[in-house]
Amino acid sequence: MKTDIQDVRLVNNLSVTNHDLCRDAILGFCDSPLFHDNEHRYEENFFGRRLRPHVVKHLDFSTPIRQGELPIYSVFAANRILFTMNEVDFLMMPPDDIVPEDFQDRYSDTRIAQAYLAMPYLERYLFSFLDEEIVLSDNWSASSVSEYFLSYARNAREINSAPSSQAILGARDPAVAARDWLVQLAPDFLIESSPMARYASGNYGPISSSLFRVIIDELGYGDFQKKHSTLFQKTLASAGLSPEPHKYWQYYLNGSLLLANYYNMITRNRRYIFRYIGAIFLAETGFIRACAIWRDALRAALPSLDLRYFDEHCHIDIDHSRVAFDGLVKPAIDRYGRLAAQEIVRGFEEARFLSEFAENDFVAQIGWKDRAQTNTEIYKKIWPKVRAAHGAGEVRKADLDEPFGELSITHTHDGDELCHVTQGEMEFLNGFQLSTTLRGEDGIIIQHNRLHGALIRSESCQYEIYSIGDVNRWL
Ligand SMILES: [Fe+2]
Ligand SMILES: [Fe+2]
Ligand SMILES: [Fe+2]
Repeated sequence: MKTDIQDVRLVNNLSVTNHDLCRDAILGFCDSPLFHDNEHRYEENFFGRRLRPHVVKHLDFSTPIRQGELPIYSVFAANRILFTMNEVDFLMMPPDDIVPEDFQDRYSDTRIAQAYLAMPYLERYLFSFLDEEIVLSDNWSASSVSEYFLSYARNAREINSAPSSQAILGARDPAVAARDWLVQLAPDFLIESSPMARYASGNYGPISSSLFRVIIDELGYGDFQKKHSTLFQKTLASAGLSPEPHKYWQYYLNGSLLLANYYNMITRNRRYIFRYIGAIFLAETGFIRACAIWRDALRAALPSLDLRYFDEHCHIDIDHSRVAFDGLVKPAIDRYGRLAAQEIVRGFEEARFLSEFAENDFVAQIGWKDRAQTNTEIYKKIWPKVRAAHGAGEVRKADLDEPFGELSITHTHDGDELCHVTQGEMEFLNGFQLSTTLRGEDGIIIQHNRLHGALIRSESCQYEIYSIGDVNRWL
C-alpha cells in the first residue's frame, strides 16, 4: 500500500495536541544555565535569557487562553519562552569575544528541535483566542479591503498623540518612562526586519520582490550604519542604555513580548503570508505618525536623544506603506481572491488588537511605578488587618529567608499581594530603573499583573508574602 508509511513507534502524534511531548520539549529547552535564575538584574550573558524555569513545570499551557486572561503570569512565562525559542532562527553575535559553550548551547540541535516542537504549542496557547476575538464578515473583496485600508491610512495621518507618549510625558519621572518605552520597543527593534526577512526565501511571484524591497531598506542597503537596528542601538546608547540585545530582558513586559511573538508566528509559519501582509500594512502605515509622536515625547523627556531612528521611519515608512498596499495587499488579492482578502484583514485586525494591548501594558506599568510611594502607604494602612486575617486562617502567606545578593527575577502575580519585610533589607524592584528600599517592618502592596522583582541587600532578609486577592477589599 502506497499510503502505508508510518511504522509502529514510541511517539505517534507529533503535533500540538500531544501535550506531554510539547511539555517535555518546553521543560527541556528551559533547562540551561543560559536560562536559569541568577543574581543579575540586567542580562550579563550575551546569550542568556532568564526564564524562571523552576516555575515552568507548575504552569499549564495545554488549554488556550481566553482574551481576558492575556495579563496572567502563565501568558507572560509563555511569551518569554516563545521569544527565546524563536531566537534559534536569528543569529546573534556579540561584538567581540564569544563563550564557545554558550554559543553551542544556544544553537544546539537539541534546543532547535525542542523549540520547533514547542513553538506552535505555545502559539496555540497564546493566540487561539484571536479566532473568537476577531470575527470577520466573509465577503471581503479587493475593493472593500482597499476602501477600508485607505480610510485607516487617512485616519492614521491625523493622529496627534498615543497612550504611550502621554504616559511618558505625564509620568512622575519622564526620563525613566522614556527609557522604559525604548526598552519595550527593543524586542522588536533590536532585530528589526529579522522576522520579515524569513519571507526573503521561497518562490512566490512578484509579491516576494515587493517585500524584498522593504527588507533591503530595513537592512540599510548593506550599510551597517544605516541598518534600522543599528540606528536603534544608537538611540539606546544616547539614552545612556546598553545597546546590547537583550540586556534589559527582565524588563520586557508581557505585552511587548506578545506582540513580537505574534510577528514571529506569522513569519515563521509561511502559511500566514496573507496575515503578515495585513499586519505589515498596519505596521508600516501606523508607524509614520507613531514615530513622529514617539520622537517628540522622547525628545521632551530625553533632550540629547539620538533621534535618527525615528526621523528615518517618519519618511521611509511613507514609501513602505505604499509598497505594502500596492505591492503586497492589492496583488495578493488580485491573484488569490477571497482567501487572501480574508486573511489580510484578519492579520491587520489581529496585529492592531495586540499592538493596543502592548501599549496599554506599558501605560499600566508606568502607572504602577508612579504609585510606588502610595503602595507603601496602603501597606501601612492595611497591614494590621491582613496580619489578623492570616491569624484567623483567611489569608495565605509564604515565608522567605534569602541571603545577600539573591535576586527574585522579575515576574507578575495574578492577584494582589502584600510584601512585609520582618528583618534585613530588600531592594524592591518596582520596574525598570525604579526601586523602593524596604527594611524591617516595612512593606509594599504588589498590584496584580505588574512586573516587579526583589534583590536582597543585607546579609540575609526575612520577608513574608500575603496573597490578599483584591487590595480594595482591605481599604
Ligand atoms: Fe524599519
Ligand atoms: Fe518600514
Ligand atoms: Fe512577587
